[in-house]
Amino acid sequence: MQFDTVIHDGTVVTTSDTVKADIGITDGRITAIAERLAGGAQRIDAGGRLVLPGGIEAHAHIAQESSSGVMGADGYLSGSISAAFGGNSSFIPFAAQHRGQSIDEVISTYDARAAESVLDYSYHLIISDPTPEVLNDQLPRAFARGITSFKVFMTYDMMNIGDGGMLDILTVARAHGAITMVHAENNDMIKWMNKRLANAGLTAPKYHAISRPELAEEEAINRAISLAKLVDAPLFIVHVSTAGGAAIVQREILAGTRLFAETCPQYLALTRDDLDRPGMEGAKYICSPPLRDTATQDALWRHVQSGTFTSVSSDHAPYRYDDTGKFLNGRDVAYPKISNGMPGIGARLPYLFSEGVVKGRISLQQFVGLSASNAARTFGMTQKGSIAVGLDADIAIWDPETTRKITLADQHDNMDYTPFEGMELTGVPETVLNRGAVIVHKGQLHAQKGQGRFVARAPMDLRGAGHLVKERDVTVNFGAKI
Ligand code: URP
Ligand code: ZN
Ligand code: ZN
Repeated sequence: MQFDTVIHDGTVVTTSDTVKADIGITDGRITAIAERLAGGAQRIDAGGRLVLPGGIEAHAHIAQESSSGVMGADGYLSGSISAAFGGNSSFIPFAAQHRGQSIDEVISTYDARAAESVLDYSYHLIISDPTPEVLNDQLPRAFARGITSFKVFMTYDMMNIGDGGMLDILTVARAHGAITMVHAENNDMIKWMNKRLANAGLTAPKYHAISRPELAEEEAINRAISLAKLVDAPLFIVHVSTAGGAAIVQREILAGTRLFAETCPQYLALTRDDLDRPGMEGAKYICSPPLRDTATQDALWRHVQSGTFTSVSSDHAPYRYDDTGKFLNGRDVAYPKISNGMPGIGARLPYLFSEGVVKGRISLQQFVGLSASNAARTFGMTQKGSIAVGLDADIAIWDPETTRKITLADQHDNMDYTPFEGMELTGVPETVLNRGAVIVHKGQLHAQKGQGRFVARAPMDLRGAGHLVKERDVTVNFGAKI
């Protein structure tokens, strides 16, 4: 067989196996896996290296305006390059509807923005205005194009769609086999806390952590799950930041609820003390939900280990430490006026590999699941997320031994800081391939702007899903078809 590329002498890892094998690639796809493969127009020596599925970043804000209209620092070019240097072969950023916009307009706006991507991509659609046209016509049209995940917010006044809006979206998603993602925080609890902190004159960045209580996340996760259960729809809780929230997710998964969740490196690595840095430095660490404490970190790691989380995602939301980003509303403003979010798309996998695999918290199989395979399965990227004959040759070759310090320059994004600066990590994604093309090799970018392609995603397989609640079950609800 003729191969365009052969990756040889590496240790190939999937969620089920670790084997010494060579990989043959033809026309962007894996066409052979064998003990020894000869030939190949290009041969990549993976001796002493781990050959893993290229990461899939399932939570990133790229070329996206925030709820208050602030454009993030990374577009699809810098965002995808940073992701590639961090071991990713594809990503699924958000395409955000702001009120009054049609979903068709949103998708064509993001199609133009994403044309620069060096990675394959799709979008999760953020819905902030679920009008009848959106629900009945526009979302089904988006779905038919292969956009099979919708995201909603329970907080942020400009995005929060209320419980009724969520039920409507969950119902449309259920009808089509789409999955609904949710940012779960109780909006009124946060507004109430904000008012009390403002009245007490407590405005420094550190009070951001106080303003969004753990209970606000726990309550909203519980409520989101109840809403999803009422319509028997699958649900994905994004950026879980609390022990209580993770415990609810774990309990519901064990009870058979069709539920998925992620946490992020910032909740495992940083704490609210980072918000208490001198001057306004704490602004760099403002994200929502906020950073918590070391006891929470321990609890979240246990949930990573025991399988509560489908993935560990970055929630890359890049606002520079200047007046284009964090301080768009001024430098000496109260914490609610500081842009929410922190970067991390390039650091996600090196962090998870080093703190997870190298420190012995998770196995290589778990790393592969949390970094790529589970997201591929959950979000319908059927051609990606593993190493098998027939799949796209999306591969990351890791040097598992080299230790380096995280620096801003290594992130290759458009940011002026990294919250992970100086952290010492072992394991480097040395070579990254997207559909068979080497895009990063030994610290050099080899990709062409715009070589990434849109990935049409498959619906979720809902066989055996969930439970019909009594009140909606025609056999016991007096025959009401609702
Ligand atoms: O603070 C964050 N995470 N900003 C990005 C938007 C979101 O809530 O995910
Ligand atoms: Zn969020
Ligand atoms: Zn986010």
